[in-house]
Amino acid sequence: MNPRAAIGLFDSGLGGLTVAREIAGRLPRERIIYFGDTARCPYGSRPAGEVRKFALQLIKFLAGHDIKMVVMACNTSSATALAVAQERFDFPVLGMIKPGVRAAVKRTRNKRIGVIATGTTVANRAYSRAARAMDPSVEVKEQACPRFVPLVEVGDVHGERAHRSAREYLQPLKEFGMDTLILGCTHYPLLEKVIRDHIEDKVILVDPSVEVVEETRLVLERNGALNPDPGPPEHLLYTSGDPERFRLMGERVYGASFGRVYRVDVQSWE
Ligand code: DGL
Repeated sequence: MNPRAAIGLFDSGLGGLTVAREIAGRLPRERIIYFGDTARCPYGSRPAGEVRKFALQLIKFLAGHDIKMVVMACNTSSATALAVAQERFDFPVLGMIKPGVRAAVKRTRNKRIGVIATGTTVANRAYSRAARAMDPSVEVKEQACPRFVPLVEVGDVHGERAHRSAREYLQPLKEFGMDTLILGCTHYPLLEKVIRDHIEDKVILVDPSVEVVEETRLVLERNGALNPDPGPPEHLLYTSGDPERFRLMGERVYGASFGRVYRVDVQSWE
């Protein structure tokens, strides 16, 4: 593993930038190559096989660059494509599910964990299976939130539509009596304030991006591959959508400027 190589990240759009932001905060010397597949967003209402195909295409694209590992900054891809990606590529590939579950299992007191995620992630039951494998005594309730990702992609994260959706989606989890809630989609930390308004104060929110970045650090440490350069590193950003729009919206999420964003025509991969 070349320590100076970048960490490859991808998502269906802006959501994975919440993971990039976490890397920039916790591993500030690391270079990032990010792909936001905006033209095919949302992934969360697509069949698992199609998401798997997209995820493998994106990892192949990232593998054509100087990368040392890939973080699937997308829960829907992690739920559907992690195992096959880990088999197919010879660099480490990390997913979002297990790191989030590990943190939730550690923190829950009443053993009732709620998960909000995309329809495809919920249909896959990846969170329930991972939690039960870690601690058979926990109960998990998963709730699909199909309107959340489109709201985040247009930047409508504080409005009435976001509140109405949050109220509806979180009610069954409240009735379930969760004391811990996993934000099981990388877009959802951008709705955290709205989500907070519709759950009890005592509920612990778990953002898997914090956990996956700690796991990234461990993988790099174990391989002697933490970037030694003082930085600041130059990141490289790609989108399948409109690059200028992605830059404008993305910088808001990331909290710093990117410079140029490059467009890739994913239709030509079909
Ligand atoms: N942000 C992704 C996730 O974590 C995908 C959302 C979507 O495109 O539906 O699941």
